[in-house]
Amino acid sequence: MTAEAEPGDLVEVRTERGRPLGLAFFSSTSQITLRMLGEGPRDERVLFGDRLRAALAYRDALSPDGNAYRLVSAEADGLPALIVDRYGDYLVVQTLCQASDRRLDLIVELLGEALKPKGILARNDAKIRRLEDLPEVVDVVAGEVPDLIDVREGDITHRVDVRHGQKTGLFLDQRENHLAAGQYARGRALDAFSYNGGFALQMARRCESVLSIDGSELAVAAVADNARRNGLTNIEARLANVFDELRELEIAKERFDTIVLDPPAFAKNKATLAKALGGYKEINLRALKLLKPGGILITCSCSYHVDEALFQDMLLHAAIDAHASVALVEKRLQARDHPVLLGVPETAYLKCFVVRKL
Ligand SMILES: C[S@@+](CC[C@H](N)C(=O)[O-])C[C@H]1O[C@@H](n2cnc3c(N)ncnc32)[C@H](O)[C@@H]1O
Repeated sequence: MTAEAEPGDLVEVRTERGRPLGLAFFSSTSQITLRMLGEGPRDERVLFGDRLRAALAYRDALSPDGNAYRLVSAEADGLPALIVDRYGDYLVVQTLCQASDRRLDLIVELLGEALKPKGILARNDAKIRRLEDLPEVVDVVAGEVPDLIDVREGDITHRVDVRHGQKTGLFLDQRENHLAAGQYARGRALDAFSYNGGFALQMARRCESVLSIDGSELAVAAVADNARRNGLTNIEARLANVFDELRELEIAKERFDTIVLDPPAFAKNKATLAKALGGYKEINLRALKLLKPGGILITCSCSYHVDEALFQDMLLHAAIDAHASVALVEKRLQARDHPVLLGVPETAYLKCFVVRKL
């Protein structure tokens, strides 16, 4: 079959005996040769139109508290390697394999018909496109898209740089966890690995003070700007390496009532798993030492390779080394607009545990 198929073709997959297994996207360069779409019509306009409408109907049913969220989450919406994020009146799309990229015009047309956005940006600068021999480009593909877009998450407004921000501008997968943290937070709070302040801003509405820390100058400036525009005067946005800063805070005998840890994926692959677990343990151990008795730690990992059991085990060992007794309050996942597809374990990547120090 590979001899006949062109890069990005929609192909029919059969067993050796000829039993049909469904449709798939073919890639000529990636290790993932076939991305399954399952059964469906061969007419691509009908196929993609149906799947898109189903994805949009699901987000409508969720009625998110805000106007920035994921509309299409690739495999989990039956549209492999396609991401569509909504930022208010604008859309940001990512076509991350040869097949979804080849159909960008059709996808833009269907999105235009269904949602009538003011503009659509293709944020196709993700490194993963290299595996598909695709160029890294950022391009307005419909209407006009401003440099900065104001969106709402709960009662907080975020100003988003959709062209240069991390991911497509915000960590939308943490949207519901930001809101949950806002409910748990009290007293003096710490948001470590804050990015634009998704957690810090929600917590500041309830807390006496919030210290946010990130290593990116752009992110720290964005927290300060977002705080000002939301009328929040109790956030200090600090530029620092979290590993160093947690140690400094401990030496200075600082203590917190609420702590959020949301690091980048330390385990990018299986080979780096052991080192990654060491990193997770170090920050969790230090956070537990900084936490007052009765305090809440909201600790996250977006490493797919660190599954829930490994994460929980790491947390237990961090607690033992910190001489802390810790009770599990809640296990959370990525926001519901990023569905987990049973049978595709890679779609379950974000863990967010809420624990209480006794
Ligand atoms: C997963 S993102 C955080 C997302 C954020 N909590 C949110 O919900 O929007 C990880 C952040 O960690 C920052 N970062 C990575 N390594 C760091 C380090 N060693 N010290 C401080 N910040 C770091 C990155 O700049 C990035 O903003």
